[in-house]
Amino acid sequence: MTVSSVGGPRWVDIARGEVSREVFVDDQIYRSEIEKIFNRTWGFLAHETEIPAPGDYVVRKLGIAEIVVARDRQGNIQAFLNSCRHRGAQVCRADSGNARNFVCPYHGWTYDQTGALLTTTFDKHLPKDIDMSALGLPKVPRLETHKGLIFGSWNTEVAPLSNYIGEFAWYLDPFLSRTPGGMEVLAPPHRWRVKCNWKVGALNFVGDAQHILTTHVGPLTLDPVRAARAGFATAAENSFQVVDDAGHGCTLTYLAPGLPENSYQTHPKDLEALYRDSLQPGQLEMLSKLRVIVGTIFPNLSFIETQVGPEEKAVIMRQWQPLSGTDMEIRSWILAEREATPEYKSNVLRKGFHNFGAAGVFEQDDVELWASATLASDNSIAKQFPYSFHTALPYLDKPDESHQGPCKVFRPADTEVAQLEFMRRWGQLMEPVA
Ligand code: FES
Ligand SMILES: [Fe+2]
Repeated sequence: MTVSSVGGPRWVDIARGEVSREVFVDDQIYRSEIEKIFNRTWGFLAHETEIPAPGDYVVRKLGIAEIVVARDRQGNIQAFLNSCRHRGAQVCRADSGNARNFVCPYHGWTYDQTGALLTTTFDKHLPKDIDMSALGLPKVPRLETHKGLIFGSWNTEVAPLSNYIGEFAWYLDPFLSRTPGGMEVLAPPHRWRVKCNWKVGALNFVGDAQHILTTHVGPLTLDPVRAARAGFATAAENSFQVVDDAGHGCTLTYLAPGLPENSYQTHPKDLEALYRDSLQPGQLEMLSKLRVIVGTIFPNLSFIETQVGPEEKAVIMRQWQPLSGTDMEIRSWILAEREATPEYKSNVLRKGFHNFGAAGVFEQDDVELWASATLASDNSIAKQFPYSFHTALPYLDKPDESHQGPCKVFRPADTEVAQLEFMRRWGQLMEPVA
């Protein structure tokens, strides 16, 4: 046998291509993955363009701890726990804004943009020798950025972010920094809750080409270029899934051969001209052939670039925030090149949310099925029967050597290789082999 189970057959069984349903519904597993995965690895916090000016802040989560991500007076990025050192109240109650200081609404302890305690308002009653500098809001100990993305980690020993993203950056960067100015978040993210496990979203984006023509058959009939089933299969044959040992992965779907020329205007030509300065030839070629890319940076940040209108291609970022074994919150950001015209940005924003916002036409298809799968799986009878990832098995040991990009590449794009590899990494972290 060339492939092996990870951490025993209880949860992730690579050799059989099966994953226990417990993994997608169980609250104890959820609590354990917060400790073993989310509090140990890197987590996405915000995009730099969400907090461009001193005093700007957003409230996010790292693991399940709420944090404030702020830009201080010196222009540096700060991230600290949003829980007062006095009696724990949430110091900042807004999602985002601009503030000189943060005043706790309970008894008035006041912190600056770095999280340092300025005053308790009753300082006169404090012991004379109290060390105020030890009573600041706890800082996220590791904070690094990659092409505009701000990541943090509670783990002081975690390897540098550049190692973590590693060679996968080759696939990611064409969607984060393909022009000299980089990308810009166009509006505050949409945020909504779905009654399903966070991994369902992460797996869907890492590589679930099999759901597209069934789940999304409704909105696809509105597609300006109708994708025939046969054409889709041919496109999948010529497309790729990419997996990385860290658990990151993506699916690239190239344009189906035989479409009328210029059926899809891939990117606005004036912007495309700028890509040449920022990207390598192989990356440029990938962009020129690409219809859709979807991917996940392990564990819970996903991205997609797809056509959202006849002349607009939107980059959308997703975060699947765990709330319990069967509950998550989604954040969805829309991005465009900073150099794009205001009109182009406004079109991308409107059409991007139309497709992938909280009420987006593709979104509603997906989340209805994710919630129903969760509901139907969360009982002792259903849990005896693992989920099937069997279409990964014939391909797992056969990476495609012909693709010029790094990481492990598999063809075609419509198998479950990337999903099973994601679960392999999850299993390694959750059930380390003794
Ligand atoms: S809990 Fe914040 S000041 Fe008391
Ligand atoms: Fe979908």
